[in-house]
Amino acid sequence: MTDHQTALPVTPRIPADQLHAYIKAIWEKAGSTPREAALVADHLVAANLTGHDSHGVGMTPRYVASLADGELKLNLHAEVVKDAGAVLSVEGGKGFGQVVAFEAMEQGIERAKRLGICAVGLRGAHHIGRIGHWAEQCARAGLVSFHFVNVAGDPLVAPFGGVDRRIGTNPFCAAYPRPGKPPLVLDFATSTVAYGKTRVAYNQGKEVPPGALIDHEGVPTRDPKVMQEAPFGALTPFGGHKGFGLAAMCEIFAGALSGGFTTHADTLGTTNAIINCMLSVIVDPAAFDAPDAQAEADAFIDWVKASPHAAGVPHIYEPGEPERITRAQREAEGVPIDPATWAQIREAALAVGMSDEETARWSAHWR
Ligand SMILES: NC(=O)c1ccc[n+]([C@@H]2O[C@H](COP(=O)([O-])OP(=O)(O)OC[C@H]3O[C@@H](n4cnc5c(N)ncnc54)[C@H](O)[C@@H]3O)[C@@H](O)[C@H]2O)c1
Repeated sequence: MTDHQTALPVTPRIPADQLHAYIKAIWEKAGSTPREAALVADHLVAANLTGHDSHGVGMTPRYVASLADGELKLNLHAEVVKDAGAVLSVEGGKGFGQVVAFEAMEQGIERAKRLGICAVGLRGAHHIGRIGHWAEQCARAGLVSFHFVNVAGDPLVAPFGGVDRRIGTNPFCAAYPRPGKPPLVLDFATSTVAYGKTRVAYNQGKEVPPGALIDHEGVPTRDPKVMQEAPFGALTPFGGHKGFGLAAMCEIFAGALSGGFTTHADTLGTTNAIINCMLSVIVDPAAFDAPDAQAEADAFIDWVKASPHAAGVPHIYEPGEPERITRAQREAEGVPIDPATWAQIREAALAVGMSDEETARWSAHWR
């Protein structure tokens, strides 16, 4: 299939509701309860809708591989292992991150509404995906939140000044709710690009932006192959020493304070599981003596957006705005899924016992 105006191949699309139903069906076939399968599909499809394909339905094959490794545990729930009032320690037990993080946020939200603030240390969760999803859950409840995450035992990023993989892509996220308006949501990996974006680029035969990768000898490269095939290279931290410093604090806040673990020689993972720990600080803005907080936040956003645009820049975006725009487009036009990713998802569906005919039925919606 090609675009007649550009002669470039067009990535097939699938309506979000069909994609959701397919992913839900895969996990129900694998043994998840309908609620678990729906939470996983909600999260993965929402990541695609917001434009973060690296954390979308393309994760399904990796999750199926982790299940086959005996790592990912189905139908597990978040367990509060220590309740200190405004501080909760929660065990994820390698349950689906899409379930245990959801439940950990539910608990933290309830506490923050009651006490004004709650810090939730979630440990040992299987991949919790796009962190903005959890911040948005807090924002829907009217709460501010900050989230520090480590990818425990899965180093992909070189330290500032180093040449090999020592740290995870450790995301940081913060959200600010605005009554009657969408929340501000800042959500990024502390690597120059998220690892999953190198997987998507590799599947699409594209290069990654300059400065994002080094090869196994520490030489800068744009070829995503160095993240997928030996000899392996590394991602670089964003923003030089500052990004490295934030990644280090994410590692320690999330991995150590939660009672989970940090990345070092004794904790390196050897399976397909991605284990996340997350420290979330959830705050009720109504607990502050700040009657003008909303007006002040809005005035600041209006002020920065009024800056004259640099050459070639059409718009100044507030945090979370690019995701909202992509979401509206993809809800209307469908979610683009490249053929390599679609084929990998189909293989995963077959691996959990879905029939050829059933996968073919879903493929009819993908065009
Ligand atoms: N669970 C994990 O282990 C894990 C690890 C790493 C990353 N992640 C997730 O990967 C996702 C992708 O991370 P990323 O680093 O590729 O994100 P990114 O580089 O696309 O940055 C996204 C952030 O920057 C803002 N933004 C983007 N373009 C902008 C612009 N032009 N002007 C102003 N703001 C702009 C967005 O609103 C968003 O807050 C995140 O959702 C993150 O949570 C998860």
